[in-house]
Amino acid sequence: MKLLAGNSNRTLATAIAKYLDLPLTKAQVRKFADNELFVAIDENVRGEDVFLIQSTSFPANDHLMELLICIDALTRASAKRITAVLPYFGYARQDRKMGGRTPISAKLVANLITRAGADRVLTMDLHSGQIQGFFDIPTDNLLATPVLAEDIREHYSKSKELMIVSPDVGGVSRARALADRLNADLAIVDKRRSAPGQSEVMNIIGDVKGRRCIVFDDIVDGGGTLCNAATALIDAGASEVSAYVSHGVLSGQAVERVEASALKELVVTNSIEADDRVKGSEKIRVVSVAPLIGEAIRRIANEESVSKLFD
Ligand code: R5P
Repeated sequence: MKLLAGNSNRTLATAIAKYLDLPLTKAQVRKFADNELFVAIDENVRGEDVFLIQSTSFPANDHLMELLICIDALTRASAKRITAVLPYFGYARQDRKMGGRTPISAKLVANLITRAGADRVLTMDLHSGQIQGFFDIPTDNLLATPVLAEDIREHYSKSKELMIVSPDVGGVSRARALADRLNADLAIVDKRRSAPGQSEVMNIIGDVKGRRCIVFDDIVDGGGTLCNAATALIDAGASEVSAYVSHGVLSGQAVERVEASALKELVVTNSIEADDRVKGSEKIRVVSVAPLIGEAIRRIANEESVSKLFD
């Protein structure tokens, strides 16, 4: 078994390697003057069960191309099995036609990964469950919920006023699963999007007066969804609002927006490498999913069940 890491999230890959007590396979990824990528794997991988760790996060296209080129290099180097480990699967939000003459880019990216030569995929908290079916190879979609629920228990659970909030109708089943796990009540924000990147809260379903609200979402990108929800929940009488999110995309002015918002804190996983702004933020805390992903890799390599990780 070999572990190989692309450049998107070396910190997480190193933590996974530490969990598995395995070194990262030596490899070079270089850029030519025109930005074309070059990959060379500096160790023998013939006949190996290889796990290639790469989030297709910002810059999404560079990281995706790096992933595809690494898979190609591994295939040509006769690896026995290649598992693409995608802690964050970018392009997931384009999982359906948004209108006439528009693509389904999540399906295209799934095809590219498969055609490049991946034998299986290990990912976490896909934006929608059906994306799993876009891959015609075995795909395990881990849930960060057990890790995040544990953190909530540690920091909030003694409070009877705890309320889990879905920031939009699409996220209700995810938020309900967390609320059930914590034995907490559920509220729902009725969000509308007027344009990509712009959102507006229309209504709050549920009585949040005097409650400690935790907004639970899969992605924080520009931060509008969370920050608008926090303002609306405080206006509706919530005593405080925090947020737990699986993937901290945090693009543009998101960190500044979170800092200036009504949110008490924002907790994200390390599926995407935290940049200096995130590391320097007093409101943003990062929890590690390295043990979760490391354990899933160990189980896949040993042909053991991974479903225990959903408990
Ligand atoms: C949308 O369906 C997702 O679950 C997130 O709510 C959304 O991507 C967050 O985006 P932003 O932070 O830009 O509002």
